[in-house]
Amino acid sequence: RTVYVNGEYLPEDRATVSIFDRGFLMADGVYEVVSVLDGKLLDFDGHIERLKRSLSELSMGNPLTDEEYLNVQRTLIENNGITDGMIYLQVTRGNPGDRDFAYPPEDTVPTVVMFTQAKPGLADNPAAKTGWKVISVEDLRWSRRDIKTVQLLYPSMAKMEAKARGVDDAWLVEDGQVTEGTSNNAYIVKGNTIITRALSHDILHGITRAAVLRFASEAQMKVEERSFTIAEAQAADEAFITSASAFVMPVVEIDGAAVGAGQVGPVATRLREIYLEEMR
Ligand code: PDD
Repeated sequence: RTVYVNGEYLPEDRATVSIFDRGFLMADGVYEVVSVLDGKLLDFDGHIERLKRSLSELSMGNPLTDEEYLNVQRTLIENNGITDGMIYLQVTRGNPGDRDFAYPPEDTVPTVVMFTQAKPGLADNPAAKTGWKVISVEDLRWSRRDIKTVQLLYPSMAKMEAKARGVDDAWLVEDGQVTEGTSNNAYIVKGNTIITRALSHDILHGITRAAVLRFASEAQMKVEERSFTIAEAQAADEAFITSASAFVMPVVEIDGAAVGAGQVGPVATRLREIYLEEMR
């Protein structure tokens, strides 16, 4: 596999980053995941806009132009023969000197890494037919979840807890209300209304979320942006999550209780179909 590091295309086993990089030592970096279907990037513009926002919130410069990001991603897709899969893009603050909490504000040179992961049959994931089961865990992340940092220890621990308990993911709960999934936004459905937490520093502003809410409104569904509890979700007609890599994924069980009929529902199924149809 060919990967991209700081302006160079290299075989993955020859690509290196300094052990002094602040991304490695301090999780001082941001990332994006863009899906590829039929060799085509999904919602590239949305992801690059959010990348630029994440960089600016952390006072990091943007090392490449939009066109450069696009060219690198297209080159990697081409070189690695990716039909279905994803592109990972990471920008860290680089290696400005000895390890120190402070960094020189002006002259850090960011580290830019991009690589592909093949996922054949990504859009036909059989899990979309059966749905995910989730558990709830306390949301112990920092309070700027709107910045897509590489600080992913707590979400990884929550995912491992879910796997250990035989389910697919964890929904994070703060002050009794669901924030989001470990790596996705969370929704419930009541009748014709889709309910999902409003945008704030508490959650990542999902690029898939924006697209799905737009498609939902266009399909005359109602959208309510507000918080909900696990009990309300368990009593809802349907639940689902969205992310760049899972698209729209139904959730059929929360903490051992069936959501609605305990089966994949019509609203999540329809939104998944619309999303895949519109984005391809
Ligand atoms: N995760 N919330 C969190 C905490 C996330 O990490 C993600 C994305 C989302 C959904 O955002 P989007 O629709 O833009 O993918 C919500 C990516 C896919 C990941 O970490 O792999």
